[in-house]
Amino acid sequence: MKPVFLRCNWLEDPIGIDDVKPRLSWQFETVANRWGQKQTAYRIQAARSATELQEERLLWDTGKVATDRSAHIEYEGPELQSRQIVYWRVRIWDERDQASDWSQTSHFEIGLLNQHDDWHADWINPELETNENERYPASYLRREFKLEGDVAKARLYITACGIYEAWLNGHRIGEEVLTPGATNYAERLQYQTYDVTRLLAKGNNAIGAILGDGWFRGRVGIKGTTNVFGAHLQLRAQLEVEYSTGDSVTIVSDENWHATNEGPIRFNDLQDGEIYDARYELGDWSEPEFDDRTWHFAKKGHWHPQLLVASNSVPIVEKERFSPEVIYTPDGYTVLDFGQNITGYVQFSIEGPAGRQVSLIHGETLDENGNFTLKNLSQQRPENTVLEQKVHYVLKGLGRETYKPRFTVHGFRYVQLRDWPENVNPEHFTAIAVYSDLLPTGEFECSNPLVNQLVRNTQWSQKGNFVDIPTDCPQRERAGWTGDIQAFMHAGSMLMETYPFMSKWLKDVAVQQREDGLIYNVAPRIYPKAQESNPENSAVEGSAGWGDAIVIVPWTLWKIYGDSRILQENWEAMKKWVDYEAECAKETHWVRKSEENPYEQYTWDTGFHWGEWAEPDRRGSMLPLFINLVFSEPEVATAYFAYSCRLLAECAEALGKSDESVYYRELSMKVNQAYLYHFTTDGRIYSKRQANYVRTLALGLLPENERQYAADQLAEMVKDNDYRIGTGFLSTPHICTVLSEYGHNDTAYRLLTQTAPPSWLYAVTKGATTIWEHWESIDRNNVPQDASLNHYSFGAVVGWLFQCVAGIDFLNRSAGDNRFIVAPKPDGQFSYAKASYRSIYGFIRSEWVIEGDRLKFHFEIPANTRAKIVLPCKENEYRTVLGEAGIEKTESENEFICLHVTSGKYTFTSTIGHSSTRNI
Ligand code: BGC
Repeated sequence: MKPVFLRCNWLEDPIGIDDVKPRLSWQFETVANRWGQKQTAYRIQAARSATELQEERLLWDTGKVATDRSAHIEYEGPELQSRQIVYWRVRIWDERDQASDWSQTSHFEIGLLNQHDDWHADWINPELETNENERYPASYLRREFKLEGDVAKARLYITACGIYEAWLNGHRIGEEVLTPGATNYAERLQYQTYDVTRLLAKGNNAIGAILGDGWFRGRVGIKGTTNVFGAHLQLRAQLEVEYSTGDSVTIVSDENWHATNEGPIRFNDLQDGEIYDARYELGDWSEPEFDDRTWHFAKKGHWHPQLLVASNSVPIVEKERFSPEVIYTPDGYTVLDFGQNITGYVQFSIEGPAGRQVSLIHGETLDENGNFTLKNLSQQRPENTVLEQKVHYVLKGLGRETYKPRFTVHGFRYVQLRDWPENVNPEHFTAIAVYSDLLPTGEFECSNPLVNQLVRNTQWSQKGNFVDIPTDCPQRERAGWTGDIQAFMHAGSMLMETYPFMSKWLKDVAVQQREDGLIYNVAPRIYPKAQESNPENSAVEGSAGWGDAIVIVPWTLWKIYGDSRILQENWEAMKKWVDYEAECAKETHWVRKSEENPYEQYTWDTGFHWGEWAEPDRRGSMLPLFINLVFSEPEVATAYFAYSCRLLAECAEALGKSDESVYYRELSMKVNQAYLYHFTTDGRIYSKRQANYVRTLALGLLPENERQYAADQLAEMVKDNDYRIGTGFLSTPHICTVLSEYGHNDTAYRLLTQTAPPSWLYAVTKGATTIWEHWESIDRNNVPQDASLNHYSFGAVVGWLFQCVAGIDFLNRSAGDNRFIVAPKPDGQFSYAKASYRSIYGFIRSEWVIEGDRLKFHFEIPANTRAKIVLPCKENEYRTVLGEAGIEKTESENEFICLHVTSGKYTFTSTIGHSSTRNI
């Protein structure tokens, strides 16, 4: 066994992180056909350079540490300094106490830790004057400089209020797009670190940057609000160069930089697109000796974020590329169909006369007549802010010219072309998907191709909505809605490694938290901080099920990735939110003041809540929202209060905070009683809504002896509804799970495989390539409704495919160690299912297939882990085909057989006949 895939804080060889206690992890290359391979000890060595590491002139040497931990091991060497590079390697001892070779050498590099002492660069503003009611072309900035010697090492530290693209000597720096990313710019602004050693040379050099509006002052959120963080774009750049002689020089942004906004990007906005006039192109503007006499000097700017932070998450980059099919729509337009709804932009080439303007309009769908439309995205917006998603390009007319946007991304599958001067050749167009570069971790496949498409659609909705922050949708709002990610967190973390991305976003949720603990619906903010207390904004903030993301998201990450640091990081904010809920519960809504309520203190019946949201039969009516606004939504609010409180108690326990753990557990029990008192009759639910049953079961609110009855009722309701879904955002993630858990696995499968609306597969049969916001975002007559086609929330059912169908279950394990549960729940509605999940220890695989009257299971458990495999059969009903050597213990649990196994491959066969497989 050998350690491979060495990572630091989830990243391979990160450069410019600002964590002085970074965590190291590795996985294993294993020996084939051996069971129980595991690590019994490790030794990490670290040094200042690769050579010093080889020669064992060390900074840090752990010696042989007897442990099976191979993930999240905190660096404990001498205190890390700004700019320090640490080279490290690890060797491990296996179960036979055999030492491995040393791993390959990895490294991590620290950025600038002290925002006051390490930064010498000024903020600079390239614009001559700005009026906040107007929009301006993108600015270009440049500075020439001379290097006196050969360059040994060079780093560029750079950030902006706006979006920047950095250039050196005619080369674009790095592959990241939309930098510095989306945060609450006033509280937390990210900078990036680039290794630019190879782009510099002795003699004359030039550095440059293009600066656009982005999240800082461009449109954000549903209202398309501008200037959320400010009206003045600014850049801050610091280029640190070390010569081979050991001397160094630093080039900083200051008033000696030259600037112009007479460049080709005449307008830029993340939502509305770009206007590019190629006649304004500036040529070799980032090369030395470029004639910039018409440019002006940049002005000194000012920006004082509370924290200037390194980028510790994965960058946004260009990913998949798509070629279009050209279609001619009945209304006479030429439209490109890229076959996949994505977030990104189109690169194209074009030939035509100078000054000719062409347009590309990006949309998600065709309408019922087969014409291109944006109406599904526009209607929700206030009149004066119709969503554009447009690119206008003005030709320079000197032969074939190529272009792709820089400072905008669109949510689209179709592009309508306007005024194209030549025959539309599909080879001249490429759509490029743009999203955060998360490690893909989960794959699922089964015998139902529509379900497989649903999984792909979910993956694409995740990709399109994971652009530095988790958004509701990538076109209409593009906002970090808390409720949406709360619902999707488990599914999303099965499909991709979400930890570094989410850990970053949670910080923006927390810095925005209101003094009294309220968590805003959206983070980063989508209207200026000064407007937070305006009644129309504050009235809808702090919704239950949305604000609870601050507890549910860290808890889910901890369960899946086993790293309690996420709980530490968020502890204060989580606790403050639950305390806020407790304070709200103490108040009583005016309409209920006279009611007798023994649990008055524990019933959260005030404030606005979105409620279950997007239930199929409440669609299209503003009435439920209005009712919530006036009367609140005590059922949902009290349920989430009890639930978050319980999770918080669990987190407290994991962090060793025993007093808090006891306190919140008791509080949660009281709130739970309040819930039962108000919303059940002696523990029985009397409701016509599926969501009420799902919520009480999934959030664990019913007394044990009432759960089965409630689940049976839910199954009946689903059956009576012809196996069509009735839940909204909050309960959809859980409905199949609770059905499977309480003996209605077949009902869960039937619900999932339903194609008549409302259902998951209805959208698939309508040709969807992403998950829709509403169950019928396109209606039965193909009429697009006022709804986005790319909202991941309903894709949360993918969590059930992993957790129950394939059985890879993290949520029910005790986090923090390297043990998993694998408990597949097959049903005859699929003839096979298989999933793989790339855990922090390596791949877990689970497959089952029906072969005649037998079920065959195959599992792979990664090295250095153990699993409890739960088969749906009794002791005398199964046979071990492969893996006897790895089974440590077998026991029967009710009608199941539990096999406690070590790492390795396993195959079992069993007879069919078990209740959970009775359909086969
Ligand atoms: C968004 C959501 C969000 C909801 C609040 C919508 O406009 O697109 O997905 O959660 O508002 O209920």
